[in-house]
Amino acid sequence: MEKGKLIEKIENRLPELIEKAIDMRNYSYAPYSKFRVGAALLAKDGKIFGGCNIENAAYGPSNCAERTAFFKAVSEGVQDFSAIVIAGGPEEGIRDFCAPCGVCRQVMAEFCEADSFLVILAKSVEEYEVYTLSELFPKSFSPRDLG
Ligand code: THU
Repeated sequence: MEKGKLIEKIENRLPELIEKAIDMRNYSYAPYSKFRVGAALLAKDGKIFGGCNIENAAYGPSNCAERTAFFKAVSEGVQDFSAIVIAGGPEEGIRDFCAPCGVCRQVMAEFCEADSFLVILAKSVEEYEVYTLSELFPKSFSPRDLG
């Protein structure tokens, strides 16, 4: 399906998803980077899973907002997704579009069809950018490669 049609399919949920992602920044635990990220993951059954980044004094165990949302959903039995909205920025507010890190892109590739899963980077309900996962993460290694 072409990108315009994919956007059309979730357009009615977009304001709610963006507001949820922005609200999830309030739960972010980011005492080290002071960079708060929120995510809202839309499952194909219509459910929305929120996520925030959760840092750690040992740095390595830190988890991004996107993975928090994915792991919440998968741990509750949901594995089919349409889109994720990401909103991130310093404590003072969102200045730029916050793109997902490489590890989160890999986690998305595990569960989502790259040509149809939408990754939406939001500054506000009015200001957002929409990408397919394949635009952000082309030629990925995924379960399909293992046969
Ligand atoms: N972070 C996310 O949660 N998602 C992103 O898309 C980019 C980065 C987090 C990781 C870390 O807690 C903080 O933002 C600064 O990198």
